[in-house]
Amino acid sequence: MLTPIILSGGAGTRLWPVSREAHPKPFMRIGGGKCLLLQTFERAQAVAPQRSPLIVTNREYHLRSRDELPAKGTLPHYLLEPAGRNTAPAIALAALWAQQEDPDACLLVMPADHLITNVAAFRDAAVQAEALARDGFLVLFGIRPTAPETGYGYVEMGDPVRQQAQAHAVKAFHEKPDAATAAGYLAQGNFVWNSGIFCFRADVILQALETWQPPLMQAARSVWEAAGTSGDKTELPEAFEQLDNISIDYAVMEKAQNIAVVPGDFGWSDMGAWSAVADTVPADADGNNTNRPDAILIDTRHTYIDSKDRLVAAIGLDNILIVDTPDALLVADRAKSQEVKQVVSQLKARN
Ligand code: GDD
Ligand code: MG
Repeated sequence: MLTPIILSGGAGTRLWPVSREAHPKPFMRIGGGKCLLLQTFERAQAVAPQRSPLIVTNREYHLRSRDELPAKGTLPHYLLEPAGRNTAPAIALAALWAQQEDPDACLLVMPADHLITNVAAFRDAAVQAEALARDGFLVLFGIRPTAPETGYGYVEMGDPVRQQAQAHAVKAFHEKPDAATAAGYLAQGNFVWNSGIFCFRADVILQALETWQPPLMQAARSVWEAAGTSGDKTELPEAFEQLDNISIDYAVMEKAQNIAVVPGDFGWSDMGAWSAVADTVPADADGNNTNRPDAILIDTRHTYIDSKDRLVAAIGLDNILIVDTPDALLVADRAKSQEVKQVVSQLKARN
């Protein structure tokens, strides 16, 4: 049985002004009434019923997360970070926690901010991944690309790792390419998106971190020794903030040889940018999508309007994103939705 690890960290800067430090992406309600964290928790239960998932998150989000999740049945455990240090430190500490619970633990690492529409297909991919992970592979779930997305990492697949398996070795990683390069990858056929979903044995990922990031792993072990557990939470000490800020992709996956990519089609999307969120809302005949049935759209096409409080009217727009909140309004070219993070950098620079 897999141990689900839910990474619920990033503020989601490309989804400004809705996602902010005070209201991060996992709490956004996308693709229905449930927030992304709850959808991820339910997915974890579909794959590993009765297994208590570990949620790795900032200590500020503990109570909020608990409020969003069911209060009965299988309850999660929380690993609380004093500050985000990217995915490698989060996964290192999660593996140390899991190994203490079960020395043979095999982890299913799932970001809390993804949408997956075909959970049965995801479960099938997880079964395949677990078999490979039990044999010592670091498994990465790949997604067959459908568009030249620039917001994702691409994995160039090599030979099959086993005769009968669908899994492939990795030739190279290509993190967030530009549009022309992405179009080239799409045309070649042996490229998949890096979903950021992984499966590996706790001891195997710890060994890989030991090999490729010895200072990080040494610091992670001393942080773990100082961690304190009470009730449903394990709190990491302030020293966690000294760990290298590095993603698991850069820290391990791009270096290790024992990687297997399991390509899948399970209706995945990373709700990374407004263009992805917009695609979850059905479009009308003009290609407009909005959560406001009362919006007035005149001579307007391919435009996304997200507004909770105010009526929105638009005239003569094409391919525009409009996201309205009580204290901030975003108007952007739909093709430039990845650049929204620059707004957040500029705002931070002002403070
Ligand atoms: N607990 C915790 N702490 N979680 C974190 C932290 C942290 O410090 N940093 C990131 N995460 C979580 C985020 O909340 C998200 O769920 C996941 O880890 C991935 O981080 P992102 O910041 O969303 O990464 P990305 O979207 O830019 O890129 C990664 O994911 C893409 C697919 O979604 C890369 O792996 C890309 O190659 C990949 O295509
Ligand atoms: Mg992401």
